[in-house]
Amino acid sequence: MAVIVHERTGTFHLTNDAVSYVFRVMENHQMEHLYYGAKIHDRESFDHLHEETMRSQMSISSPEPSLLSMQYTKQEMPVYGTGDYREPALVIRQENGSRISDFQYQGYRISNGKKSLLPLPATYTNEDSDAETLEVILYDALSETELILSYTIFAALPVITRHTEITQKGTQSVVLERVMSMSCEWNDAEFDLVTLDGGWARERYIHRRPLASGIQGVLGLNGTCSGAEHNPFLALMRPDATEQSGEVYGLNLIYSGNHLDQAEVSTFDMTRVMMGIHPQNFEWNLQTGESFISPEAVMVYSRAGLGEMSRTFHSLYQNHLVRGKYKNEVRPILLNNWEATYFDFNEEKLLNIAAKAKEAGVELFVLDDGWFGARNDDYRGLGDWYVNLQKLPSGISGLSKKIEDMGLKFGLWVELEMVNKDSDLYRSHPDWIIGTEGRFESHARHQHVLDYSKPEVVDYIYEMIAKVIRESSISYIKWDMNRYMTEPGNGEVMHRYMLGVYDLYQRLTSEFPDILFESCASGGARFDAGMLYFAPQAWTSDDTDANERRKIQYGTSLVYPVASMGSHVSAVPNHQLFRKTPIESRANIACFGTFGYELDLNLLSDAEIEAVKRQVQFMKKYRRLIQVEGKLYRLISPFPAVNRTNAESGNEMAWAVVSPDRKTALAAFYQRLNKVNASWLRLKLDGLNPDILYRITWNDAAGVEAGEETAVDMKSYEAYGDELMHAGIPIDRILLNRKGGDFASVLYEVEAVE
Ligand code: DGJ
Repeated sequence: MAVIVHERTGTFHLTNDAVSYVFRVMENHQMEHLYYGAKIHDRESFDHLHEETMRSQMSISSPEPSLLSMQYTKQEMPVYGTGDYREPALVIRQENGSRISDFQYQGYRISNGKKSLLPLPATYTNEDSDAETLEVILYDALSETELILSYTIFAALPVITRHTEITQKGTQSVVLERVMSMSCEWNDAEFDLVTLDGGWARERYIHRRPLASGIQGVLGLNGTCSGAEHNPFLALMRPDATEQSGEVYGLNLIYSGNHLDQAEVSTFDMTRVMMGIHPQNFEWNLQTGESFISPEAVMVYSRAGLGEMSRTFHSLYQNHLVRGKYKNEVRPILLNNWEATYFDFNEEKLLNIAAKAKEAGVELFVLDDGWFGARNDDYRGLGDWYVNLQKLPSGISGLSKKIEDMGLKFGLWVELEMVNKDSDLYRSHPDWIIGTEGRFESHARHQHVLDYSKPEVVDYIYEMIAKVIRESSISYIKWDMNRYMTEPGNGEVMHRYMLGVYDLYQRLTSEFPDILFESCASGGARFDAGMLYFAPQAWTSDDTDANERRKIQYGTSLVYPVASMGSHVSAVPNHQLFRKTPIESRANIACFGTFGYELDLNLLSDAEIEAVKRQVQFMKKYRRLIQVEGKLYRLISPFPAVNRTNAESGNEMAWAVVSPDRKTALAAFYQRLNKVNASWLRLKLDGLNPDILYRITWNDAAGVEAGEETAVDMKSYEAYGDELMHAGIPIDRILLNRKGGDFASVLYEVEAVE
């Protein structure tokens, strides 16, 4: 792995075993992008990859007889106003009102490893040899502004990360109006665009469509989180690329606020992709000596389809983004009381639920919303982070002690960025909410956003919640956030708000390093890499229906590791969809995640409790494979556009995790609706060793809902890896009938025969 610099030709080549990224200083002293893709040999000059020709109406930005036009030149950080009529990546307003800049090459620095971007989250190296960083220094003389383009190439992964740093070196004050974290260009547009989109309770559905002329992409504008509507992710896939093959470029922003994720196809069918903080309502004032650092963008290259892209993201995030005690550690099996009680609980009820959970083998009891202030519904109490002694007479300290005495760990829900107007906090600090004087204060879920752009607000909340944690035995915190921002005061507020959130996360995770944090935002509206830096897992969705979760977790897995997906078995009929699914299927989807329960186990039948006990044991046996060591192979997509099998579009779904030595795997097959007199279906595995003989084992018994005596009847057969991958496992339709028909599923344990 190396950053190669050819001084004579001004050429930079970032390369490792898999990838090459090449750019150079061009004749106008700006940075020209030349190539990004599969590894190519190094050359002192790649000048021949610069293409230019005389075109009508082109503006030339170098003295005659040059033909250098920004209109068709690929650039590393395109700016406004000198003949490039596409969208710029950087716009700086100067004192005279001009937005033109001309960033000229000054020099470069190379360092081993990579530096921290705190307070912004970013990927990191464990050893200096994990990555190399190149900083290219540019300067615009007229605005006296320095621009540093930072690139890190990882040694063992096809990953390049980028961010942008701007410093006012002179005496003027300038206003940053648009600062992208990265911009990259290709001189063709033969791509499909893939994005992860949705809304509350249907987060991160996969969409794939051909790139078209003009601008397309996604955004997040809600201020408080990356959003359920669009994830800060996009991928460019060659039209013939699939889950398993073909060229894919995946891009992800390590940020939890407003984002722009955009592709533009120009008049010459070139593609420009950029990613960064969305410029809507963004402005950043820079005075002498001040700097602005953009969030980091991650660029993943794959020559083996979406699957390989995802495994690269997973590996990067598990090893170079997630921090703390739970990095590469199995997650406790929890029971959360939200869907069991909502706000209607007292200590006795909670202890009763916890006792049954303990009996079933659960390890962590989580107390959700409603334990503090006057919080008996969602109209009041947010902001008053002290216990409601009427509900919980022994306080959180007493309750957590009682839970621990049962042999369980204790976890607590918080929503630290919000306030209800009916709260002591709002009554004493009405000026602490985000708003604009004279404007109506929009509300959502009866709550308002605390102004975390003010350090005194962050300090106050930190002290209040740290006191609760210090006085109790807390092993886990669910950090919720349930509304979007409105009436933001000025162009700096939204980004400063996010920096305040990150600051609070950093302070709490530093003071309480043993606590497992799970982020949450009305379900999965904050499922982003920014959050993963502080909280290694995130509540994937408020939709806990097993059938819906197939899609949500499958889509989420495009970028984020299995271990990051908060996933629980909940009651039937499901509270969001009123649907009944077999308890076996609910567990079979939840086990591809952090795994837990979100119901009162006291209300289950004896047979169901026996099933729960088996599920917990199963998860304890397999969680290291699922959450820490295994690689994820998606086998059948619930999204028709990315299917590759003869499964009827969207009705079936399957995936598997495979151990690094390829001796153990766990595959799951799920169906939506049952079929009568159906065609044959084989489940073709992936990632196995073709030459190893495996034993495939599954539970052939009917689901407990069928009321049979035994719900365990393990069956198995042996087959080589090549057979399992190419001939596949025949799916037994009759077994699916016995397991409940609609929404039935089967887990296959795959173990190498000694
Ligand atoms: C929204 C979360 O997504 C739910 O899991 C739950 O914690 C509620 N908030 C509590 O108000």
